[in-house]
Amino acid sequence: MLGRWYNRNLNRLWTFIEDRTSMRKWPLRPQPQFTFKPSYWTGAFVVNAFLYQVVSGMLLLLYYQPSVFPTLTNCGQTLGTLSQAPAAWCSTYYIIHSVPLGSLLLSSHLYGAYAMIFLLFVHLYRGYYMGVYKKPREFSWMVGTLLLLATLGMGFTGYLLPYTALSYGATNVGIVLAVRTPYIGTILAPFILGDGTPQGLLSRMFAAHVVLIPLALGALLAVHLLLFEAHGIAPPATSDPTQRRRFTAREDERHVPFMPHIFLYITKWALLYIGVLLGIAALWPWSLPTYYGNTAAAQGLIIPDWYFLWLFKILDFVYNTTPIPATFALGIGTVLLLYFLFLPWLDRSKRTHPRDRPFFIWLGTSLLEMFALLTVWGGFEPSIQIQLFTYTNGLTPVVLRLGPLFAVNAVAIAIFHYRYTASYRRRLEERLPRFPGIYAPIDVVAPPRGRPTPTASSSGAGPLARAAPSSGGDRA
Ligand code: HEM
Repeated sequence: MLGRWYNRNLNRLWTFIEDRTSMRKWPLRPQPQFTFKPSYWTGAFVVNAFLYQVVSGMLLLLYYQPSVFPTLTNCGQTLGTLSQAPAAWCSTYYIIHSVPLGSLLLSSHLYGAYAMIFLLFVHLYRGYYMGVYKKPREFSWMVGTLLLLATLGMGFTGYLLPYTALSYGATNVGIVLAVRTPYIGTILAPFILGDGTPQGLLSRMFAAHVVLIPLALGALLAVHLLLFEAHGIAPPATSDPTQRRRFTAREDERHVPFMPHIFLYITKWALLYIGVLLGIAALWPWSLPTYYGNTAAAQGLIIPDWYFLWLFKILDFVYNTTPIPATFALGIGTVLLLYFLFLPWLDRSKRTHPRDRPFFIWLGTSLLEMFALLTVWGGFEPSIQIQLFTYTNGLTPVVLRLGPLFAVNAVAIAIFHYRYTASYRRRLEERLPRFPGIYAPIDVVAPPRGRPTPTASSSGAGPLARAAPSSGGDRA
């Protein structure tokens, strides 16, 4: 009884909102039914995470004071002998200990940053495996790579803001890396360092974190979403080269309207995200390490946030007796960035299914595993030097630790590739006994969707034209 009353009124309220906002006419593309799966909206989850960061960050701004001097804050009253701490650290302490729900706010902002970076990698790798970077989505992919860079920049600049001894040390290592970059380092240095004083650095990092990078990120995101809107969602990965296309206007008519259906679907996940994030922040609140300049405290290790640990670990590599130059680590980072940026032009095959792209699946998987391994290794053994090629003190050199990853993946992917291709070809032949031995000819022209599928013999089309399912691709 109560439930029916509730549903009726909710319906009336929703109809009212729909009518007054004309939301069904909003120019958001309708989406195919099969997109009601989280894997199709990994980017939207990153948007949710970003929005949470913006809102929580703005609330933190009400209290945070970006100064290395101890004069601006009232945390001296709270801290007694620690009142000489820089205002940046003191105001963070104040947020945690004196602002109502401040600890929850700060911890959820920090964990939210981790979650955003993690979700971003999920989004990137989902696109990588499903081949969504192929025609016509090359620019979406490239803009996405720049978004990744901007997001990591947010993490880097935010790390210094509490002005702890830990964050100051790690930021300095990052800055040394940046200013030593060949050619662009000297151009970058004055922009990053300001007048060379600690306050100059903090002010620059603060400005970058709250204004410059968010603006860049917002602009890039707008382009990213406009491109998504223009192309529509990528159909499922397929071996049919003709299925990499956009949906037709006729298909769009049969799709689910974005407002309110897809929007509510994404909102449901957004609420779940916020709930879990707040739950974790409440259960395991972040504790503030000691401030930079506290001479009474023991000097700790210099360690960055987890997403830069892999880079820090590379700095521990030693060749003969000398640590490898910082530019080497930077060089690896730059090559990786360029690889992802230009991937649509490196992988030119016309098929999107992972089974048809063994080389790129091998490389992507090996890089992912290498990243994970270096991250864990950097977390457990930070600043412990290790030889690149030779055994020293019984320690296995780097090449023998990382090399097997690439070799094992090559064998595993070769086996999977052979088995998948063979089973796919067999299934095609079962469906099309008249075309034995044919595996997805490249020149197949699939019939327009929504019309009865012509037979291969009547249309002259190859086997995939008949085998392609109506939902937008081969999901075998
Ligand atoms: C702040 C970072 C990013 C945000 C907020 C974001 C957001 C989005 C959103 C909302 C979509 C629509 C479909 C979906 O929800 O999955 C999307 C699609 C897409 N994104 Fe991202 N993205 C980001 C980073 C990236 C990165 C790092 C890449 C890859 C290098 C990338 C590549 C793509 C591509 C190719 C599409 C089209 C996929 C399709 O049509 O299924 N994005 N992104």
